[in-house]
Amino acid sequence: MTNIKLHSAYHAGPVDRRIFSGFVEHLGRCVYEGIYDPGSPHADAEGWRVDVIDAIRPLAMPLMRYPGGNFVSCYDWWDGIGPREKRPKRLDYAWRSIESNQVGLDEFVRWCTRVNTQPMMAVNLGTRGAAEAQAIVEYCNSPAGTKWADERVRNGVRDPYGIKVWCLGNEMDGPWQAGHVPAEEYARRADQAAKMMRGVDRDIQLVLCGSSARAMNTYMDYDRVSLEYCWDHVQFVSAHRYSSNDRNDSDWFLAEGVEIERIVQDYRGLFNFVRAKKRSDKHVHLSFDEWNVWYKNRQGDGDWKQAPHLLEEVYNLEDAIVCAQYLSSFVRNADLVKIACIAQMVNVIGPLMTRSDGLLVQSIYHPLKWYCQHAKGKSLQLLIDGPTYKAGARGDVPAIDAAVTLDESTGTADPSAGTLAIFLSNRDQHAQHTVSLTLEDKTFKNVIEAVQLAGPDLKLDNTWEHPDRVKPVPLDVTITSPNTIKLTFTSAATAMVRIQLA
Ligand code: AHR
Repeated sequence: MTNIKLHSAYHAGPVDRRIFSGFVEHLGRCVYEGIYDPGSPHADAEGWRVDVIDAIRPLAMPLMRYPGGNFVSCYDWWDGIGPREKRPKRLDYAWRSIESNQVGLDEFVRWCTRVNTQPMMAVNLGTRGAAEAQAIVEYCNSPAGTKWADERVRNGVRDPYGIKVWCLGNEMDGPWQAGHVPAEEYARRADQAAKMMRGVDRDIQLVLCGSSARAMNTYMDYDRVSLEYCWDHVQFVSAHRYSSNDRNDSDWFLAEGVEIERIVQDYRGLFNFVRAKKRSDKHVHLSFDEWNVWYKNRQGDGDWKQAPHLLEEVYNLEDAIVCAQYLSSFVRNADLVKIACIAQMVNVIGPLMTRSDGLLVQSIYHPLKWYCQHAKGKSLQLLIDGPTYKAGARGDVPAIDAAVTLDESTGTADPSAGTLAIFLSNRDQHAQHTVSLTLEDKTFKNVIEAVQLAGPDLKLDNTWEHPDRVKPVPLDVTITSPNTIKLTFTSAATAMVRIQLA
């Protein structure tokens, strides 16, 4: 049995809701035929897919990263503003596709309003530089009266957007990135851009590119060099990871949480190191702004087509269990991880897939929705002890992965009341596991909800013909004492339990 012990006074601080953010890139069918599809019967008068909006809106994602990704590194943002009929068609080098520019900055901000989120803008530091980055901040955030702000007004938007979070390029450590440079050079570029962008709007927050994968030779060095150089001007460093089961070893793959946690702790070490070296009181946080499972569909060559089918990954049950472990790691490290974006939202490695006439909800959407909707308040520290299982080359790994939040704002009549949200994954596909969880200093009133995504077939996915094969089903939970619950997993699974406190 796995025992989890909690106390409301022991926590990692409040969960920053921005860890439940998304990502929309001009890539494949994410924008065109994904969020924007004027020819579809599901589109509104502006061409937005209403079914997609209706699926994203309930996630209440605070930020939506845009417009890339690799795309941003050869993108001229001004191509996407002004009268649509005058916008140029461009070759997109990153995905060998044609970009029509029919959706650009102003349209995207309008879409964000529809899904109740805020844009998190990336600037091109691959093939452009500080001046163009400064100009887009002026276009977005300055009051009328100067060149780019007046351009925005001419495009019909009087008030500044006030876009808060900006990424200083994308994956600049990667040789595949247009304009990729060594860390020393990126550091100078990013620092200049940061100064000029914050010169226009000193309230913006900046995300420095970190490593695009732990497998990179420059992992942590690229991050260290650029962070040391830009320390005074940035608030976040970005990390990316895509999980893969290309070896088809599910025991190993289901323990991905171990690797995710290691990356988070690597950044904790780096930030402490640079802070110590600088003798600084400042805190820099982690923006894990691309994460997901991605290995089955690596087709990234658009053959110079518009909206080609690229990276259209199909997600199964084991992928959903891995995605839950990303989110649990972010919640557990609430003091460090303040932004995270699932990559991406629609069609391209996304929880949602579209056809002109329909929407398919993939397996990974379900745990994403649980966390987005219910991981609120304080992230409680876990005293967890339980059996391990054999996770292939990863050795013996705890079978149960967990994160717990306590939202005290929900108790209105009784100030001590609140809601406990418990997120559990059973990574062991071979054995039954029981979990007992105790919240030492509170009393449970009732179980509000207990759901799981469970086996036995880890490879099961949702298809257009069978759209509900992987969906949440009830999980039996027993309150065994005033402050203890018990539940049993009969197979590999991910689950959420919500408890109303007395
Ligand atoms: O999300 C797909 C791609 O993966 C992004 O464009 C890039 O940043 C990463 O390599």
